[in-house]
Amino acid sequence: MYRKFFNLQTSPFGTSPDPRFLYMMPHTREALAGLEYGISERKGFTVLTGEVGTGKTTLLRSALGSLGQRRVHTSFVFNPLLDPLDFLEFVLTDFGLTPNSRTKSGMLLQLNRWLIERYRAQETCVVVVDEAQNLSWELLEEIRLLTNLESSSEKLLQIVLSGQPELEEKLRHPSVRQLRQRIFLWCRTQSLTAEQTGEYIAERLRIAGTTNAIFSPEAIQLIYTYSQGIPRTINLICEHSLILGYVEQINVIPGSLIAQVAADLELDMQSFLMAPSQHGEGLHNPLRPMETGKFMNSFNREPGGGR
Ligand SMILES: Nc1ncnc2c1ncn2[C@@H]1O[C@H](COP(=O)(O)OP(=O)(O)OP(=O)(O)O)[C@@H](O)[C@H]1O
Ligand SMILES: [Mg+2]
Repeated sequence: MYRKFFNLQTSPFGTSPDPRFLYMMPHTREALAGLEYGISERKGFTVLTGEVGTGKTTLLRSALGSLGQRRVHTSFVFNPLLDPLDFLEFVLTDFGLTPNSRTKSGMLLQLNRWLIERYRAQETCVVVVDEAQNLSWELLEEIRLLTNLESSSEKLLQIVLSGQPELEEKLRHPSVRQLRQRIFLWCRTQSLTAEQTGEYIAERLRIAGTTNAIFSPEAIQLIYTYSQGIPRTINLICEHSLILGYVEQINVIPGSLIAQVAADLELDMQSFLMAPSQHGEGLHNPLRPMETGKFMNSFNREPGGGR
């Protein structure tokens, strides 16, 4: 409803993981390159982790979108709360196969044959498990076993596990050390800095059709404070601000309007608890983005290791 008023062709701050709006930060570029490399070079396991709403699914969709043009077959598991049989059936079906058996061995055999054919045709196959922090230990082990499907030199099936920080915890558990040892690449998404928040907002507005500075500098600073640089929360605040700006017929959103929106969204107390502004030391609070700004630029390194 506000599009015409702000001169926009589309809604700039949707909350779906739409790769058209991908804003490239150094860590985004690095993670994207890592994912594409790990998959196309058939390196086996790649892991992507990051706080809630920092762009993991958006990044996966973007990577798969560009790999899709390069003979890559994808199965995207978005709900990993499956038992091993259902998981295998889902993967086969998502690869376009009709499972010819409901037994584990039958489906594994079928998958293996198909993967060998794809490999001979120089095609790459990848299973992406999103929300992988929810994987049961049992399914995690089954997934590890899938990487045993290999030719003499390369993995036949590439696996990407993507999830929130709980996935990092899970992969640190001694019972999955075999899997951990096989992780070729560990990529991360991060929350944005104050400066990146401004660029991110401008970039989304530009993609939606306007280069007008709809948000005042003070508004952008407050969006950053309330969102702590989490893209999904930035989108939420911006979307509500545009609606309110339209209702009140304000062309340039001032800081006071952001404060009002944040209060409506009950973000004020959260950001107070998150406190001390810039990345780094703060009050301990489970809501605070984990290790904001302290992430390693991390190819092939485990979180918490070797720092
Ligand atoms: N780099 C980015 N460029 C553009 N938009 C982004 C970026 N990162 C995140 N977003 C936006 O933020 C919102 C949340 O992103 P997404 O769903 O990918 O996060 P997520 O990390 O997968 O979240 P969850 O942990 O809840 O699964 C989406 O609207 C997405 O478009
Ligand atoms: Mg997601």
